Amino acid sequence: MRLISIDEYNPKLMQLARPIYDKHRRVLLGTGRTIHPTYLEKLGALDIRYLFVEDAISFGITMEEMVDTPTWMEAIDALKNTYRAVEENQKLPIREIQKQVVTLVDEVAKRKAIFLVPTSSLTENLREYAHAVNVALISLQLAKKLGISQKQLRELAMGCLLHDIGKAIKEETQHHARSGFEYLRKIREVSLLSAHVAYQHHEAIDGSGKPRGLEEKEIHELAQICALGNVYDHAISNNGLPPHEAMEYIMTKSDTWFTAELIGLFVQQVPSYIPGTKVRLNNGRKAIVTKILRNLQRPYIRYLDSEEEVSLGDCHTLLISEVLTS
Ligand SMILES: [Fe+2]
Ligand SMILES: [Fe+2]
Repeated sequence: MRLISIDEYNPKLMQLARPIYDKHRRVLLGTGRTIHPTYLEKLGALDIRYLFVEDAISFGITMEEMVDTPTWMEAIDALKNTYRAVEENQKLPIREIQKQVVTLVDEVAKRKAIFLVPTSSLTENLREYAHAVNVALISLQLAKKLGISQKQLRELAMGCLLHDIGKAIKEETQHHARSGFEYLRKIREVSLLSAHVAYQHHEAIDGSGKPRGLEEKEIHELAQICALGNVYDHAISNNGLPPHEAMEYIMTKSDTWFTAELIGLFVQQVPSYIPGTKVRLNNGRKAIVTKILRNLQRPYIRYLDSEEEVSLGDCHTLLISEVLTS
């Protein structure tokens, strides 16, 4: 299986490896299907930009580091219900959110690495919710190295899921981070730490952030993690950057938006090249990334011409020089 941009799709060579949903979250095209060109146009009109496909060069690649579709969609549904409750001034479905918090903490705990599914693989109306889920996933992946308690991990996940909830408040006249905080701090089941994660998710350590222009230590460590997760998912999902470019982009924010220490943690915890990525190596040969085992930044690759598999972790002179998109 691999993730491709929709314009790389070739019906003669590829089948869908994960379903595509319409805006009502009904399955539009199921796993195993070939997409007819007229359908492909329809997906383009829905602005769906990525697909998971199965093809000859990606055989055996499983992408277990991505949360499976039902789990992701269930979390997205819970967020959708949450936003609707806020928009309609109803009670927050807190049980539903708490259930997702537990699920997401478990999902991240059981994996060495987490890859995000770009929200642009969904119809537009679901992306805001999928964004919140992605921010929670990547933040948990960073936080699990900090040795914090299970309770704090859950508070972080809750804060990440609700970090943009201020956007759902109708009479919103202030920055959404502040209005989200004002809303969340009145909810008994949401801890003050979770509310602060939402409050501080647009702050930057150099004081250039919003809404308060906090600096360095004034920003809670877990809120900084959420802020980084937020920027990373925007890079992947909204700006369509491949993971290695999103990583470079994050690195340019060292000492301005994020501490060098946090970026170091990010590099340690998030891979630049995900399985299924077609690459050219510095020996000129084309290959596909197959799996990530010990070293997140040095994956296994399989040559396209010989099918020989090599661990870049064991071949220190071999480097990825280019990502191929066709
Ligand atoms: Fe935000
Ligand atoms: Fe956000």
